[in-house]
Amino acid sequence: MTLRISELHAVEILDSRARPTLAVTLATADGTRVRAGVPSGASTGSREAVELRDGDPARFGGQGVSRAVAQVSGEIAEALAGRDFGSAADVDAALIELDGTPTKSRLGANAIIGVSMAAARAEAAARGAELWESLSAVAHTPPRLPVPHFNVVNGGAHAANALDFQEFMLAPLGAPGLAEAVRAGAEVYGRLKARLAAAGHATGLGDEGGFAPAIDSPEEVLGLLVEAIEDAGYTAGREGVAIALDPAASEFWHEDHYVVAGERLSSDELIDRYEEIVGRFPVRSIEDGLAEGDWDGWVRLTARLGEEVQIMGDDIFVTNPAIITEAIDRKVGNSALIKVNQIGTVTETLEAMRICRDAGYTRMVSHRSGETEDTFIADLVVGTGAGQLKSGAPARGERVAKYNRLLELADIQPELPYGLA
Ligand code: PGA
Ligand code: ZN
Repeated sequence: MTLRISELHAVEILDSRARPTLAVTLATADGTRVRAGVPSGASTGSREAVELRDGDPARFGGQGVSRAVAQVSGEIAEALAGRDFGSAADVDAALIELDGTPTKSRLGANAIIGVSMAAARAEAAARGAELWESLSAVAHTPPRLPVPHFNVVNGGAHAANALDFQEFMLAPLGAPGLAEAVRAGAEVYGRLKARLAAAGHATGLGDEGGFAPAIDSPEEVLGLLVEAIEDAGYTAGREGVAIALDPAASEFWHEDHYVVAGERLSSDELIDRYEEIVGRFPVRSIEDGLAEGDWDGWVRLTARLGEEVQIMGDDIFVTNPAIITEAIDRKVGNSALIKVNQIGTVTETLEAMRICRDAGYTRMVSHRSGETEDTFIADLVVGTGAGQLKSGAPARGERVAKYNRLLELADIQPELPYGLA
């Protein structure tokens, strides 16, 4: 297979939060044209690959990406166009070399990941395959439909309420297939809205489509979730609909302590709180339960709860193969959240997932709070067989686009297995 890039072009578009991002178009000599939309986070890890933003307050409050657009259509296009690549991985290697920085800050991680996603699509087209099939072949992983994790209550950096925990997700583990899981997510979402309204809470939405009520207690939210799950006719638990949390604790960590609903907590006190929560509510997964700098706390959290609960690193791991390797070594967590733009190329994302797999760490592919209508991550999670996806609420187009892509795949490819890996 040869990939000859004939044209590379980017345009500044809007993400789901009215902030600029990039759409990249890549054409190959054989006439294929593919496109990619670049996601962007709000509660970012400090060691993520670095987005290039204009910083010009006269445009989009400094958030413009015209410089990143110019990198794609200028320097990157000049370096890549006309060259023959053996694979998308070769394109990624060329991008990393051209950028020359450890954090992709010169060309911009947003510029680079857009080209990388487009290259993965071009490779799939060259193989005459769907993106998920092509990624499955590249990663040497059997494809699988994932359990969707629906973020139905938003707090933290994703909502203007006083709720410190960022994400409360529904995990329909008991559903026999993808369509039933999506249905469970949507039905419980509807019942939750009714419960919130009946209790006098606003039902406005946060950045990922979950409700953002004026509640500050995580336990109160968990209680409402259990009630909504039962209202919808499901069992609250692993045999029905379980719950996954992303407290995103780096956001409420202050040098040496945490603050939850105004209460000051040490790492161990917060771990005690999680232990209590896991005892009272059907919580199956805790992502970023502690802050990215609190590695010693993470070791204790994993030792205490890792047998019964998925202890997942997001801000602390940032999809970085070297950091994940160190974490495995130090017994930090037992699972990794996977976001393509945290590391900046698809190839390095697949490498991070391989390292997890080899070490017995579970993987969950993830959207960002700022999204486009691109459904790349749906194909990524299927092709890598990771078994878990989080793409926000079962509401708002940019979130639902990913779940709908999975529903289509489930329909077209009924032989695909479904469930946790
Ligand atoms: P972000 O948040 O996309 O705003 O970084 C998502 C997450 O923390 O999982
Ligand atoms: Zn997170």
